[in-house]
Amino acid sequence: MLKIKGLQKTFNAGSPDEVQALRGVDLHIEGGSFVVVIGSNGSGKSTLLNAVAGGFLPDAGQIKLAGRNVTRWPEYRRAKLIGRVFQNPFSGTAPHMTIAENLALAAHRGQAHGFGWALSRHLRQAFCERIRALAMGLEDRLDNEIGTLSGGQRQALTLLMATWLKPRLLLLDEHTAALDPKTADQVIHLTKAIVAGEGLTTLMVTHSMHQAVNLGDRLIMMHQGRIIRDITAVAKKRLRAEDLLEQFNEVRRAEQLDPGTAEMLRALYV
Ligand SMILES: Nc1ncnc2c1ncn2[C@@H]1O[C@H](COP(=O)(O)OP(=O)(O)OP(=O)(O)O)[C@@H](O)[C@H]1O
Ligand SMILES: [Mg+2]
Repeated sequence: MLKIKGLQKTFNAGSPDEVQALRGVDLHIEGGSFVVVIGSNGSGKSTLLNAVAGGFLPDAGQIKLAGRNVTRWPEYRRAKLIGRVFQNPFSGTAPHMTIAENLALAAHRGQAHGFGWALSRHLRQAFCERIRALAMGLEDRLDNEIGTLSGGQRQALTLLMATWLKPRLLLLDEHTAALDPKTADQVIHLTKAIVAGEGLTTLMVTHSMHQAVNLGDRLIMMHQGRIIRDITAVAKKRLRAEDLLEQFNEVRRAEQLDPGTAEMLRALYV
């Protein structure tokens, strides 16, 4: 479903602020797979998701999605294949439009403006049913502006919108990080239900060890722009949060060695 080969991205190349955000990422994801991505701050997780969504063109490498080479496709064209939910509950929805209008936008995504935009009774009924299933007390608020909802309610709706048209790939970037633990749990529960119910191929970034261990059928760990661990099926099922923390600490210890090693190499070669 998703095939990434040799993906590289350097920001501010040649300047003192140069960052090698992706240093050759290879990743194959089967259709219907739910992949969780972890890694320390700045390890390249969001950059990887942005590269897939088309937020920028990579410096090198190839991205294939659903059998198409999308590497040079602009973001809006890829958006027809991809659903996204970000960390910030304020992105992804139009705050001054109502719940129903936002859902109508999602349901008509990719269609020419002015065609079929009227919110048919049929569609309104469908919205009502899906919103009731969220169990967040929103079914009577279809005509309220999104801006009046709580962060959790907004994330639940954004998730519904991102998946309304059954995207070929769902990208979730810490979509529960800004929520309180109880609401985060609710949104995770919903995520699981939608991903499993629709059989969506999903790439989800999280900082939560609990989520990393309990969600999905594959776990990848990023570090300094590379994938350094790829834990699949059976091994993932056996994984405990403590194992993951230990792996994180290992990486950190190795990182602490790096400056010294670099110093030694410099002394040898200068
Ligand atoms: N548009 C940009 N311009 C310049 N540097 C960027 C840009 N986007 C990301 N970076 C840098 O690239 C590196 C990787 O960033 P990225 O956002 O992918 O990390 P992350 O793994 O998502 O981290 P976090 O867990 O904090 O969200 C960081 O050093 C970041 O500062
Ligand atoms: Mg990030």
